[in-house]
Formats: sequence, structure tokens, C-alpha cells
Amino acid sequence: MNIILMGLPGAGKGTQASEIIKKYPIPHISTGDMFRAAIKNNTELGQKAKSFMDNGELVPDEVTIGIVRERLLEEDAKKGFLLDGFPRTVEQAVALNEMLAEAGRKIEAVVNIDVQEEELMNRLTGRRICETCGTTYHLVFNPPKVEGICDIDGGKLYQRADDNPETVRNRLDVNIKQTKPLVDFYTEQGVLFNIDGSKDIKDVTAEVEAVLQKL
Ligand code: AP5
Ligand code: ZN
Repeated sequence: MNIILMGLPGAGKGTQASEIIKKYPIPHISTGDMFRAAIKNNTELGQKAKSFMDNGELVPDEVTIGIVRERLLEEDAKKGFLLDGFPRTVEQAVALNEMLAEAGRKIEAVVNIDVQEEELMNRLTGRRICETCGTTYHLVFNPPKVEGICDIDGGKLYQRADDNPETVRNRLDVNIKQTKPLVDFYTEQGVLFNIDGSKDIKDVTAEVEAVLQKL
């Protein structure tokens, strides 16, 4: 199964991805996570991506397309994948189609998680993440049982560097501009499914699963 999860920053792509992979044995490929890992390890890729991410801008297409191309060639991605946060531009979408076509594959579903802009600022500034296992919480919408501590493994919760109000504002503006052309692109290809992402996390998961079950 070759699936894309699309949606503005904070729409719930990461949250839904962790539910989907519990049911479907495919790798969760998040370009944002790949960049953050590269920054943490201070690799060449991390050095290229850092200033763009800190400012809430998109990392240049050639860099992003390159890392996805490499990742999709890995063995575990050959049976399918769940892409989260890629593609984000029509150029990336075209490149993805080309790399899949080379292997006789194609995208089966693009699940677009739709949430109003006003809600996204609250979601992102209240997000907290476990430093040990990466589980995502929210101070109000999905709080841990003990403040600042992960329910699963007792890890400390931290806030992402780009989740401050100024950077969030720019991330939203940058991504809103890219969304319409991307939605048009995948609508034309007949693979776009719109999901109402403003509901509770569980209800959104049920909607996403209803789409995937039909594939
Ligand atoms: P990335 O890491 O992909 O960030 P993003 O797109 O900004 O998305 P987020 O991870 O912030 O949000 P999400 O939709 O996963 O929401 P979540 O589930 O956590 O990218 C970061 C940066 O990397 C980019 O800015 C760019 O610089 C670069 N980059 C990445 N990909 C790129 C690409 N393809 N091209 C160029 N550059 C790229 O949920 C958010 C919060 O809301 C959580 O606290 C959660 O608990 C809560 N929540 C989730 N669902 C619900 C719900 N239904 N109700 C209430 N609360 C909810
Ligand atoms: Zn944890």
C-alpha cells in the first residue's frame, strides 16, 4: 500500500500515522522526522536543512526529493509506505510519481486531513513530544497522565523548536500557499480523499481507516 498523509502543520499527520502503522505493516516516512534526526546528529543534511526549518520555510526541493528517493529504495519501503509531510510542492509530487513509475508503482491514496487554520495554532503551540519514544501529546487535547512525563515509558516531554508562535505562523503561511496546487494535482489523478481533521483524534482515525479499507 502506497499512501500519502497530507495536511497543514498540526493537522494531525504524525498522530494519525502512528495509528495507521499499528494496523498496516508499512514504514512511516516523515521528511520532518528525517530532517530533525539529521540536525540532531549534525550531518551534512542536517546543516542544509536547519536554517529553513528554524524559520518555518520549506527545505529546497532538490534536497528533500533526494532523501525521499534514497529512503524509498530501502528494502522495507518496497512493500509499501506511508509518507507524512511529503510531497509538499507539485515539483515534489511529480518527482515522486516519476520515481514510483520507474519501479512500476503508483500512489494509491492521498489522505488530506483538513483542519481550520485557527485551530492549528493552538494544536502546535500546545504540542509536547516524548524525548524517549517520540509519542506526541497535547497540553489540552491529549495530555499525559502526569504533567511533562510520557505515559508509556516515563520519558521527559519537550517542545519542538519550530512550535513557537512566530515560526508556526510562517509554517502555516508557507504551507497554505502550497496546498491548493497539490490538492488540484492529486484530485486530477483521482487519488485524493478529504478527511475532516477537526474531530477527536479517535474519530479522525476511524475516517482514515474507512478510506484505507476500501483500497
Ligand atoms: P514536519 O515535521 O512535517 O512538520 P509539519 O508539516 O509542520 O507538521 P507537524 O509535524 O507539525 O504536524 P502534524 O500534522 O504531524 O500534527 P501532529 O500529529 O503532531 O516538517 C517540519 C519542517 O521540515 C517543515 O517546516 C520544513 O521546514 C521541513 N520539511 C518537512 N517536509 C518537507 C517537505 N516535503 N518539503 C520541504 N520541507 C519539508 O498534531 C499536532 C498537535 O495536535 C499534537 O499536539 C497532537 O496531540 C494534537 N492533535 C492531533 N490531532 C488532533 C485532533 N484530532 N484533535 C485535537 N488535537 C489533535
Ligand atoms: Zn515515551
